[in-house]
Amino acid sequence: MNTTDQPGTPGRTDSPIHIRGLQKRFGALEVLKGVDLTVARGEVVVVMGPSGSGKTTLIRCMNLLEEPDAGTVAVCGCSVECGDRARRRERARQVREIRHRTAMVFQQFNLFPHLTALGNVAEGPLSVRRMPRADAEALARRLLDRVGLADKAAEYPARLSGGQKQRVAIARALAMEPEVVLFDEPTSALDPELHAEVLQVMRELARDGMTMVVVTHEVEFAREVSDRVVFMDGGVVLEEGPPREFLSRPAHPRAQAFLRLVAHDLPEEGADDEGPDKPTRWERAS
Ligand SMILES: Nc1ncnc2c1ncn2[C@@H]1O[C@H](COP(=O)(O)OP(=O)(O)OP(=O)(O)O)[C@@H](O)[C@H]1O
Ligand SMILES: [Mg+2]
Repeated sequence: MNTTDQPGTPGRTDSPIHIRGLQKRFGALEVLKGVDLTVARGEVVVVMGPSGSGKTTLIRCMNLLEEPDAGTVAVCGCSVECGDRARRRERARQVREIRHRTAMVFQQFNLFPHLTALGNVAEGPLSVRRMPRADAEALARRLLDRVGLADKAAEYPARLSGGQKQRVAIARALAMEPEVVLFDEPTSALDPELHAEVLQVMRELARDGMTMVVVTHEVEFAREVSDRVVFMDGGVVLEEGPPREFLSRPAHPRAQAFLRLVAHDLPEEGADDEGPDKPTRWERAS
């Protein structure tokens, strides 16, 4: 991670994600009420918050799967001013570019049921990147190997476990060679015993330097792997900070209440520090 990165100009190459004043409503419901978020290259940001707080909407707005009502979305050097419907056409190229550079991994995998694992991973390189079939399939095999599924290349999704499906979905995301991967609760549809295999793939991706925004309530993953935790509630970022601080000593009462529900080792209110936290991956690496 580039620790000298300053939140600054939209589109700076050392901040692949730079969002300012993001607003989104669905009818009368104001879901995002002015969210600012900068993510540095190689940074892993975990987004947590109660159900309905706007987490999914935020990451869908990041790659413009959802059209924000106002604000600026600058991703990998492409900047889009939202809300100006008259300029929608001019923005189409930027939106396409942003979608190419970001990949999304969904809670429900969203694999094509009629394609094998190999076919699912090769589909993007074939149809979007226009790679020759042999190259696309070679890439898909390498990526399936990377997520530990080399032996499942010929299987259809219906014959894969949830954890295997999610690992295929991660390989499929990587096949687009994104600069940023956005994860929306990638383990929450899985039985608990399948969480670890998916989190391990994500841990390795983070170790390899991928820029990642991960909506998750996996506290241990946030503690061990993330550089920063962002806590959302009611459509705003209420608090953010390094995981060891946020997860052990959240400042906002709503963050404290939320963490009591998802984390089992949060000290009681007013309790002293529970002792040295685990080192982060950066500290372990240094
Ligand atoms: N397409 C939509 N149309 C109407 N309302 C929507 C739509 N998408 C989301 N909402 C509403 O916006 C609010 C925020 O939804 P969002 O999915 O972003 O929350 P979330 O923080 O991801 O919640 P969860 O933890 O349950 O996934 C919710 O009240 C939801 O019902
Ligand atoms: Mg959600």
